[in-house]
Amino acid sequence: MLITSPITLAKTGLLPGRVYEAASTGVYADKYAETCLRVELGLADSGNTWGPLFYSETREPVFWARNIWLSPFLLEFDSIGSVATALRGIQRNWHPTLFTHWRRAALIQSRLPPMSLKPRPFPWLLPDASVGAWTLLDEHTLLASANCSSPFPGGVIQFEEDKNGPPSRAYLKLWEALVRCRVWPHTGDRCLDAGASPGGWTWTLARLKANVIAVDRAPLAEQVARMPGVSFTRHDAFSLQPEDIGPIDWLFCDVICYPDRLYEWIEKWLAADLCQNFVCTIKTQGANTRRNLSDTLRRFTTLGGQVIHLYHNKHELTWLKVSRRPDE
Ligand SMILES: C[S@@+](CC[C@H](N)C(=O)[O-])C[C@H]1O[C@@H](n2cnc3c(N)ncnc32)[C@H](O)[C@@H]1O
Repeated sequence: MLITSPITLAKTGLLPGRVYEAASTGVYADKYAETCLRVELGLADSGNTWGPLFYSETREPVFWARNIWLSPFLLEFDSIGSVATALRGIQRNWHPTLFTHWRRAALIQSRLPPMSLKPRPFPWLLPDASVGAWTLLDEHTLLASANCSSPFPGGVIQFEEDKNGPPSRAYLKLWEALVRCRVWPHTGDRCLDAGASPGGWTWTLARLKANVIAVDRAPLAEQVARMPGVSFTRHDAFSLQPEDIGPIDWLFCDVICYPDRLYEWIEKWLAADLCQNFVCTIKTQGANTRRNLSDTLRRFTTLGGQVIHLYHNKHELTWLKVSRRPDE
């Protein structure tokens, strides 16, 4: 059952559903991800919404949220001091997503421990302390969750960008995916980069001193093709069989293609058991009707790993399946 407002519930206590945060702000935000999220949640234009926050009790997998508040609760409070003390008593890190009562919320946030939102270098080992999320529904009602799906405050991470080295900005989504996994290729790792051109991902991998087999039907940027460890093959990536490549440490794929095509190719790699770490973009715009698309996305989740909408993804999602652990 969907509720139209949690105010109809007791004002203090755990909610049975989850809060889904739409990608409604930032460089990559447009209505596409929000519309997909509404469709996934079965929400009409106005129901169950507080600004960018949607509430739903669905048990279906949801892919298009920037952040999911996994255990939301309501807390009725009298004073700013008491609500800040209550949040601090649960954990250190809290990030607000606000749509009303900004001034009161700023006073609450000023009584919580500071959290740095500065741009990060890459690679950057993300601390494993969880980041909670909160908002005010009215002057005396806090909605919050200590556990969230994204390890980044509000699902957002900014990087110290390199404006000169990479030939495209696509590297930012790879940086985000790898920081989120808390693991990235080591020196000498054998990596396949499918759909590599112009070369932002290959540039990232070569800077990590990996050996990169870059495959694309279009050429790599010259400065990337010349980097140590990079070899380029002009080819249709999907007609390369896993046995043609042999064992690899990582498979990266950013090919523009229908999700089903990617899925079939990945299935072959998993069946061949020649790779354990995957980062693949699932391009979605115009790919399918939305219903068929969510069936395909669900099939990806049956392969293990997770399908998520990164802050740096636009009309696409990312499938991550990484077996290596941060200390390996
Ligand atoms: C989004 S771009 C990749 C950007 C790249 N990851 C980067 O960091 O610069 C998608 C690429 O997929 C390539 N592509 C499309 N179909 C392909 C196929 N069947 N096999 C190999 N590459 C393909 C395109 O030529 C294009 O260069």
